[in-house]
Amino acid sequence: MRRTGALAAEVLIAACEHVRVGMTTDDIDRFVHDAAVDAGAYPSPLGYRGYPKSVCTSVNEVICHGIPDSRRLASGDIINIDVTVYREGVHGDTSVTLMVGEVDDHSRRLVAETRAALYEGMGAVRTGAVVSDIGRAIQNHAFRHGLGVVREFIGHGVGTEFHSGLQVPHYYDRRHSTALGEAMTFTIEPMLTLGSPEVVMWDDGWTAVTGDGRRTAQFEHTLACTADGYEILTRTPSGDCAHDLFTHPVG
Ligand code: MF3
Ligand code: CO
Ligand code: CO
Repeated sequence: MRRTGALAAEVLIAACEHVRVGMTTDDIDRFVHDAAVDAGAYPSPLGYRGYPKSVCTSVNEVICHGIPDSRRLASGDIINIDVTVYREGVHGDTSVTLMVGEVDDHSRRLVAETRAALYEGMGAVRTGAVVSDIGRAIQNHAFRHGLGVVREFIGHGVGTEFHSGLQVPHYYDRRHSTALGEAMTFTIEPMLTLGSPEVVMWDDGWTAVTGDGRRTAQFEHTLACTADGYEILTRTPSGDCAHDLFTHPVG
């Protein structure tokens, strides 16, 4: 899980370095596909439940699972790039929301506070905590900043399966009382919104957008629970991750 997580982090960082105003989301897809394959990995999204591409690219009002296509990135866009790779029998899953070109202040605040919400959620992870502690921390952070929390898509157990049985909501629900234990591996991947968190699905069966058309952001790590906290699996051996390297607009 450490080795595959590190690869996911490296592919995501390389994809972010590659992003420029004017490129298409298909260009990002091709880059991620080739980077995964060149590293001896399989891009987990490709063919997963019929998903047609190797990465998810979710722009502006797209909450998650945006399918790469011929749309060109414009100055002012925000884009979540969600990379999952499979190697040595396990998956590593991580995403970042990048700001492209000249981005408005509301979007900058949304991106910064969504990143912060992920790390608040991670701070609730330790052996003996329960799953609902994670969502409570994320929701508290979001609401303090006047942001919405998407409920329809949640974090998940990850390992030999892309999505295992464990569910990790990003809102507070005390019924999610599963105890966290050492070496459990799962994602946290909050999606926060500037407006209403209501979801509308496109008829492609994948693309989830905000009902009000306002912007949304997402950040994701794969983690392992430890005795007294957590270990980030989706970072490079030197500890880098896209969340720390791309806090300013690119392109
Ligand atoms: N990487 C996404 C997640 O965080 C899942 C994408 S499924 C796909 O769980 F089929 F859309 F790729
Ligand atoms: Co995930
Ligand atoms: Co993901």
